[in-house]
Amino acid sequence: MAKDKETVSSKPVGPKGPHGNAGPKPEKAKHFWKTVRRLASYMSAYIWGIIIVLILAILASIFQVMTPKVLGQATTEIYKGFMTGVAQQKAGIQVDQFPIDFEAIKRIIFVVFLMYMASALFSFIQQFVMTRVSQRTVYKLRRDLKSKMRRLPISYYDQHSNGDIMSRAINDMDNIAGTLQQSITQVVTSTVTFVGVLWMMFSISWKLTLIALATIPLSLIVVGLVAPSSQKFFARQQKSLGLLNNQVEENYAGHVVVKSFNHEKDAIAKFDAENEILYKASWKAQMISGIIMPLMTLINNLGYVLIAMFGGIQVANGGIALGNIQAFLQYMNQFSQPITQLANLANTIQATVASAERIFEVIDEPEMNDDPVDIPDIQTDDKVILDHMDFGYEGKPLLMQDYNLNVKPGEMIAIVGPTGAGKTTVINLLERFYEVKGGSIKLDGRDIRNMTRDDVRSHYAMVLQDTWLFTGTIYDNLKYSNQDASHEEIIAAAKAAHVDSFVRQLPDGYDTVLNEEASNISQGQRQLITIARAFVADPEILILDEATSSVDTRTEVHIQHAMQRLLKNRTSFVVAHRLSTIRDADKIIVMNEGSIVETGNHDELMAKDGFYADLYNSQFAGNVAM
Ligand SMILES: Nc1ncnc2c1ncn2[C@@H]1O[C@H](COP(=O)(O)OP(=O)(O)OP(=O)(O)O)[C@@H](O)[C@H]1O
Ligand SMILES: [Mg+2]
Repeated sequence: MAKDKETVSSKPVGPKGPHGNAGPKPEKAKHFWKTVRRLASYMSAYIWGIIIVLILAILASIFQVMTPKVLGQATTEIYKGFMTGVAQQKAGIQVDQFPIDFEAIKRIIFVVFLMYMASALFSFIQQFVMTRVSQRTVYKLRRDLKSKMRRLPISYYDQHSNGDIMSRAINDMDNIAGTLQQSITQVVTSTVTFVGVLWMMFSISWKLTLIALATIPLSLIVVGLVAPSSQKFFARQQKSLGLLNNQVEENYAGHVVVKSFNHEKDAIAKFDAENEILYKASWKAQMISGIIMPLMTLINNLGYVLIAMFGGIQVANGGIALGNIQAFLQYMNQFSQPITQLANLANTIQATVASAERIFEVIDEPEMNDDPVDIPDIQTDDKVILDHMDFGYEGKPLLMQDYNLNVKPGEMIAIVGPTGAGKTTVINLLERFYEVKGGSIKLDGRDIRNMTRDDVRSHYAMVLQDTWLFTGTIYDNLKYSNQDASHEEIIAAAKAAHVDSFVRQLPDGYDTVLNEEASNISQGQRQLITIARAFVADPEILILDEATSSVDTRTEVHIQHAMQRLLKNRTSFVVAHRLSTIRDADKIIVMNEGSIVETGNHDELMAKDGFYADLYNSQFAGNVAM
């Protein structure tokens, strides 16, 4: 849970601060270039597509940059004709029409039209190709991540929260797709536009260009002074947003508990306080970053006025054509755009590389070990053997040492013991969710490390401590354990597990969709469904890790009854908290702190008057807490 919360606040922060570089700082990749190269290798198959995209992007921006100057020629033509006309009038010549060369203007406008069209067409094709390239690349990346996730040991999932894993698989992937699609070409077009515009400006007048450039340091000072302080507030805003999210999440997830303990007022007060902090931080962040835009506009306009003034003088002197001044002013507008764009892109790319790095981190995780071990198969009647087995969780001391257990086919093995004794752990080991640290676990005489995991698991079915049902119909949930089950088998299983009777009373019957917490059916009914699911699987060996939750007595009887049917003639491991369930187990394994402290059947153990007898008696003394 604690890890889950972290991801709320450390979610990759988009690079989209309201005004470019005044936004929150993006996460940084640890190995920027290494990750870039690796990401590039995913795209290398589409190198031709990318080359075409780059060429088209360059052409599109060149045309884009050239148009103002060409269009300026039209203005110059009009101006020339007009001035000639005025001069003629002044000279006393009768003028019906100013001698404006409309043919030339038509030609110019046609050329401009063609250039805009070409530019638009190139942009379109380039977008089209790039979408394919980026989607294919992310597809490959997703495929690799997905197949990796299947090969990761369960311990990876113990150490990483669901939120963290999901954020990598979804947010980070989206980030990469978006950036590949847009940012790469934007880097090219922005650079070309910047260089092109500068080039055009110089070609018109180097003096005016220098005046225009003089405004840049001024803008830099503004950004340099204001941005850092707004960034500070953005960071604070982000932090309190994270805290607030946690609070909301906690209170919604636990709203029943909050209400039942009358902590609503408390929760609201806490929320209000945090909300107030968030409000202040956001307000300051937005306020300060909001200053940047008007300041920049002011500086830009100052430059504009200067150019218009000096340019006007030069036009009057005949130093520069009027159309060129018009073009120059247009260029001045376009000039700062690629700079801000590149600054934004730098953030986007940083964040994306960080995303890619997080995905590669998962892809590089050590995988489950599939090497067979040098333990020969043995001839045995035993179904399952735990032979001098040692086990401890990753990074923890050994929990179990020299654990021995032989299970005959059809035997019912009950595992009991106080909480934390290692009962669930034994079961996880049987199904090879974790690897033993020493000794051997054998199934039909063969070490389970010499079988595939799928093979091992095909012998088992589980009814688990936390009844896991997915969002879907009851029918699909039942079918989940065995996709080959026929309709008749599924209904028979539902009947055997006392599911059929209550499902028939639901308005949608077997098509009832279970919601996320399956709150539309009761806890006991959920358990019955998981039992029915095990019936559908019809496994050789059954594992029951009994839920501690108490259900009403009638359902309890149903569960007991269903379990007994399910266990009949089957090898089974039963972790029972209600010791009454396991009175007729063939063998009861009493565990404490990872070790077996007693074995025997109920009567033997009671006669022994040891650990088990204590447990049993304490339960019937009314102390059910185990
Ligand atoms: N995934 C895990 N990673 C690390 N340690 C774990 C993990 N799962 C369990 N443990 C630890 O191993 C010990 C045994 O846990 P286990 O879940 O097997 O107990 P249990 O007997 O099933 O208890 P309960 O009756 O509460 O279900 C505990 O100390 C627990 O904290
Ligand atoms: Mg357990």
